[in-house]
Amino acid sequence: MTQHLLLGQTLSFIDDPLTQGWEWSYRHTSRGAVLIDGGRIAAVGEADGLRAAYPDVPVTDYGNALISAGFVDAHMHYPQTAIIASWGKRLIDWLNLYTFPEEMRFGDPDYTAAVAGRALDLALDNGTTTVVSYCTIHPESVEAFFDAAAVRGMAVVGGKTCMDRDTAPAGLRDTAQAAYDQSKTLLEKWHGRGRASYAITPRFSPTSTVGQLEALGALWAEHPECLMQTHLSEQVDEIAWMRSIYPDARDYLDTYERYGLLGGRGLYGHAIHLEPREVDRLAEVGGRLIHCPTSNTFIGSGLFDMTGLARRGIAVGLATDVGGGSSFSMLRTMAAAYEVAQLRGVALHPAQLWWLATEGSARALHMGGQIGHLGAGAAADIAVIDLTSTPVIAQRVARAESLWDALFPTIMLGDDRAIRDVWVGGVRCERV
Ligand code: GUN
Ligand code: ZN
Repeated sequence: MTQHLLLGQTLSFIDDPLTQGWEWSYRHTSRGAVLIDGGRIAAVGEADGLRAAYPDVPVTDYGNALISAGFVDAHMHYPQTAIIASWGKRLIDWLNLYTFPEEMRFGDPDYTAAVAGRALDLALDNGTTTVVSYCTIHPESVEAFFDAAAVRGMAVVGGKTCMDRDTAPAGLRDTAQAAYDQSKTLLEKWHGRGRASYAITPRFSPTSTVGQLEALGALWAEHPECLMQTHLSEQVDEIAWMRSIYPDARDYLDTYERYGLLGGRGLYGHAIHLEPREVDRLAEVGGRLIHCPTSNTFIGSGLFDMTGLARRGIAVGLATDVGGGSSFSMLRTMAAAYEVAQLRGVALHPAQLWWLATEGSARALHMGGQIGHLGAGAAADIAVIDLTSTPVIAQRVARAESLWDALFPTIMLGDDRAIRDVWVGGVRCERV
C-alpha cells in the first residue's frame, strides 16, 4: 500500500468539547505529521519522530498550515446546487417557487450527473470530504449521486427523497408503494458498496401521506443498519401547516414517531422550534439533530439551541443545507453557528465549532472514528487549512497568541481560498 507523510500543524480531538471542557478535548502539535497508509491514517505524531521512523516514505511538507480531518456536511440537498442564493422567500414559498421546479429536472440523467459532480466538486473545494445529501424522487438522482461520489472516492450518505402527498407538485410525487420499492432497490444496491451509505429519506411529514410514512418506517425496520433523514420543526409556518395536515399529532416529532420513523439512527434536520416532549423523546431514543445555521438565517427559520440540546445529551451534527443554506463552506457554516449561538447569548468556542464540523458530525452519523477524525484507523480524508489565506485573516493571525486565536479568524472570515489541499481516502485531490 502507498504510504505518505504530511507535515504541518496537526489538530485532533480526543473528546467532545461541547459536553466536556474544550480545554481537554483536543491535541495540537505545532510541528506534527500524519502518516497515510493506503486509504487510512496510520499514525499522527511529531514530525521529527515520524520522519525518523519512516525515512523512505514520500513527504509533503505543508509548513505552518493546519492538517485537519476533512469536514463532514451532515445535511445538504445536492439537487439544489443551481438554486443556491435565491432571493426573498421563506420556507414554504421557497420550496414552491425555487426548489420543486428545480428538482423536477432530475429525471434527466445527463442533468442529474452534471449537478451531482458539480456539487461534490464544490464540497471538495471547500474541504468537505463527506456529504449527507437528499436526492430527488427520481431514482436516477440517487444513482448519479453515488456514481459521482465513487469516482471521487468519497464516503457519502444519500437517499431518494420521498413525497406522495398532493402538497407536493404533480411532477414530483411518487406513491407509498413506489417510495418503498424504489428506496429498497436503491438501498440494496448501494448501502455498503464502496464508501456509500444509504439513508431512507421521507422529505418531511407535510409532503408524505400516512401510508408513505408507514411504508418507509417498515423499510427502516427491515434495514435498521441504515440511517433515516428528514426535516423537523424548521419554521413556525411549517409547523402550523403540519398541524393542519396531522390534527391528531401531539407535535411534529409525533408524525414520525407514530409511523416508525423515530430512532437513534434518525437524522432530524433543523429542529429549531421543539416542544419539551420532543426534546425528551429525542434524548430518550438517541435521535440526532442536524444544525443548519446558514439556512436558518437565510430562510429566516430561527435560532437553534445548540448548548441546551447538547446538554440534554443529544448528538448534534453541523450542515450547510445547500441550497436553503447559503454556502458550501463549512467554515462559513461554523461562522453562522457562532453567530446564531451569540444571538442566544452563548459564545461557542472555536474548538466546539471545529469539532462540530468534523468529528461531531461524524458521530451524529454513527461514523465516529471512521471519518471526520485525524487519528489512527480513520479514513485518510483530510483538509489542509491555510491559516493566512487572505490579507485580512493574515493581519489578524499576526496578533494570535494560541492555536484557537489563529484559527478563529479563518472560521469567521475564511472560504475556499483557505483550503490548501484535500486528501480523500489517502489520495490527494487534484482540483484544489
Ligand atoms: N423542508 C422540506 N424540504 C426542505 C428543503 O429542501 N430545504 C429546507 N431547508 N427545508 C426543507
Ligand atoms: Zn434540508
